[in-house]
Amino acid sequence: MKTILVTGSAGFIGSNLVLRLFKEMSEGTIVGLDNLNDYYDPTLKDYRLSVIEKAKPVGIEYEFVKGDLADKALIDGLFEKYHFDVIVNLAAQAGVRYSITNPDAYIQSNMIGFYGMPGDRSVASEFNNGVILHIPN
Ligand SMILES: NC(=O)c1ccc[n+]([C@@H]2O[C@H](COP(=O)([O-])OP(=O)(O)OC[C@H]3O[C@@H](n4cnc5c(N)ncnc54)[C@H](O)[C@@H]3O)[C@@H](O)[C@H]2O)c1
Repeated sequence: MKTILVTGSAGFIGSNLVLRLFKEMSEGTIVGLDNLNDYYDPTLKDYRLSVIEKAKPVGIEYEFVKGDLADKALIDGLFEKYHFDVIVNLAAQAGVRYSITNPDAYIQSNMIGFYGMPGDRSVASEFNNGVILHIPN
């Protein structure tokens, strides 16, 4: 039984990945994390989350956590609660043009957020047999 963390799970790729995992997995746990930021209309993200909730099959445990990748306490708490086999890190600030006008958003999500995962280094050892897939932007 796999336990998978999908960050950016309300985003374009993350939400579709969760839906695909629902189809591919017969059992296991999927945790979605997203801060639902307003880089584009958050109602689209709410809609995707509602589709995910409705699609959740029997046999799969699913939890959505609204929070920021750079929130160390939140991430540490997730790693204490779950023993992830796979992390797919899709939570990021996308958009090349946006990075010119809003560089802080990139530093926060793409550098500080990614650096903080998998959580505090004291729990990183619990992830030493896992797989982390980081999708560069
Ligand atoms: N869509 C593409 O064609 C494409 C192509 C190449 C690479 N990528 C990369 O793949 C990743 C995902 O792309 P996407 O199209 O799904 O983007 P997206 O903006 O639709 O999804 C990203 C999600 O991450 C969330 N997020 C951002 N910062 C966060 C943070 N600090 N903590 C928690 N959640 C946070 C956002 O709210 C959003 O829902 C990005 O890194 C993007 O640059 C996308």
